Amino acid sequence: MLSARTIYGEIFDHDEAFGLFCSIAAGGEAQGGWENGRIAALVPGSQAGLAAKIARHGADEDKHGRIFAALLRKRGLEPVAVPADADYAMRLEAAGIGLAHARLRRGEQLTEAGVVACLAHCRVTGQRASEPMRALRRHAGDRPGIARAVRVIGRDEDNHLACCHEELLRLAAAGHGAVIRAALRAAALAGIAVYRDVSLAVLAHLGRMLGWPGPKAAVLAAGIRGVYACERPGGWRRMVALRRPARRDALGGAVPAQPGRG
Ligand SMILES: [Fe+2]
Ligand SMILES: [Fe+2]
Repeated sequence: MLSARTIYGEIFDHDEAFGLFCSIAAGGEAQGGWENGRIAALVPGSQAGLAAKIARHGADEDKHGRIFAALLRKRGLEPVAVPADADYAMRLEAAGIGLAHARLRRGEQLTEAGVVACLAHCRVTGQRASEPMRALRRHAGDRPGIARAVRVIGRDEDNHLACCHEELLRLAAAGHGAVIRAALRAAALAGIAVYRDVSLAVLAHLGRMLGWPGPKAAVLAAGIRGVYACERPGGWRRMVALRRPARRDALGGAVPAQPGRG
């Protein structure tokens, strides 16, 4: 039967598929850690409080990368190279979403508009990170190692999203409302197409590894296209709404110590 639970089960039970799944996740998390670390260092002095929260976010993403790497290690697997078509962060950058890595590497201080663009990107990708964690939490219940990892990461992702809502509302109240709305819309609309393309690519790689028959792969691919068909006319709006989060200052406090980081 084709259910999310059985598909996840097939991936978790198959070394090569599980290796690819964790490698893609670990790579994406580490990338997010690097990006947020760079952004935190480039935030203008007028937004120093925000810089600390972005640094905290980066530290969490680095931790998530280590969690997925540990899942691989426990299974006796080595990380594998992430295929370019399955590299979500790289494809988002190619679509012009968020700040270009070359710009982050150059180390020029961000303007307030640049900060708004980063937070809008973060609001949209944060929801993308948070939603599959909820699904995984439901479907990894009988695999304690994976369930624990997903619980920890999911809780962090909810905090990241809460922080984005809170900070974007603060900047909107400070007069950046129109820029924020435009940045959120652009990030969401480009993001849904990239998400569809990356999901189809990942599905194709996993399907080959798991030996899925053509009709099964076709049904799953149709499901991904169906999600896009719902998101394109209006489903994307759920990723741009701003609400005061139940948890305030979710990323307040000190940045946790990073093993291996100076
Ligand atoms: Fe993460
Ligand atoms: Fe995050």
